[in-house]
Amino acid sequence: MTTVGVLRETAGRERRVALTPDGVGRLRRGGEFRVLVEAGAGRTAWFGDDAYAEAGAEIGPRQQVYDESDVLVVVRPPDDLAALPAGRILIGLLDPLGDPALAEMLAGQGVTAISLDLLPRTLSRAQPMDALTSQANVAGYKAALLAAEAYGGFFPMLVTAAGTSRPAQVLVLGAGVAGLQAIATARRLGALVTGYDVREAARADIASTGAAVLELGEGQNTEDGYARQLAEDEAARQLAALTSAVPRFDVVITTAKVPGGRSPLLVSEEALAALKPGSVVIDLGGNVAGASDDTRAVTEHGVTVIGAPNLASTVPVAASTAYARNVVALVSSLMPEGRLISDSADEVMAAVLLTHGGDVVHPRLRDRPKAKESR
Ligand code: NAI
Repeated sequence: MTTVGVLRETAGRERRVALTPDGVGRLRRGGEFRVLVEAGAGRTAWFGDDAYAEAGAEIGPRQQVYDESDVLVVVRPPDDLAALPAGRILIGLLDPLGDPALAEMLAGQGVTAISLDLLPRTLSRAQPMDALTSQANVAGYKAALLAAEAYGGFFPMLVTAAGTSRPAQVLVLGAGVAGLQAIATARRLGALVTGYDVREAARADIASTGAAVLELGEGQNTEDGYARQLAEDEAARQLAALTSAVPRFDVVITTAKVPGGRSPLLVSEEALAALKPGSVVIDLGGNVAGASDDTRAVTEHGVTVIGAPNLASTVPVAASTAYARNVVALVSSLMPEGRLISDSADEVMAAVLLTHGGDVVHPRLRDRPKAKESR
């Protein structure tokens, strides 16, 4: 029988867990898998050891999980990965494009690494495994709540005996999964929402939520659904247009990303300085000048900027539940009888396999120059 190990997350402020008790039950259903959970692995997401045991998992110390597991599932790479013996399979959001040195290290250790963030959206078979989508959805939802909490006014228009409050004007920049969920959630809270994206197709998505669309000239037509990095002059024109559009909003939520590339700067120092005192900016995408990269509010000139790179972790029950289902779907697909399929033509396998047999095998990483610094 194949043993799947669940490790406690070690990344700072990470509250998610890779497999929930519900996920344990789903994985054990076919009878191919034994599940071994590190004691306390689910505690930060409110899943106790008892609940795992009830679902049929065994509980043990971290070293036992490392020693006995054929497959280790994580959300983010653990900081003691050097303990992982050769021949094991590691599954998680390994961010190999952001940290290519990790892939080299895992290959050197003889680990077979599978990175969920390499999964292409275009494969309909892969949708139940799409962890980037499930986590972006949670992050977008939380971004709207965080904004509503930090904002000193109401989001909805309220008519009371003490008078009528005007609704908050919310702008969401980037309308992929996280942005569209932020738009939907802010609308449910009653705000007047406007969305913007550089992709033409995203404009129809924004309009379909009932939000207004901010038009800033011609958008991109993309084949794979992902935005491409703007050329320097295009980016400068976009930033100038946004700098004049942004200040009329009370709340700005930014979610723009380019896969494998640098996040675009969309809210400049100048735009921040022109926002009204009391305005709130939530930066999910890394699009705001000077925003911190942890969830911390910085208030200058009365404008509160909150850097929010890992908001999914702050909704750990929902995020872990969705992630665990993604993991179970992936394992069921790639290990149908408890063993990793060897079909290199399998499109999901080809997309997510990062290292195997001592080599970095994923084309997007294999063909780039070796990282100079080791981890
Ligand atoms: P992402 O996280 O890579 O980027 C977020 C958003 O930022 C994207 O909408 C992108 O167009 C936008 N962006 C990038 N540069 C920008 C700029 N300079 N200015 C303004 N906006 C900018 O994207 P995400 O959320 O992963 O979605 C990417 C695509 O994949 C979308 O078309 C989405 O609808 C699609 N998708 C399809 C799925 C499916 O078919 N199952 C599932 C999830 C996403």
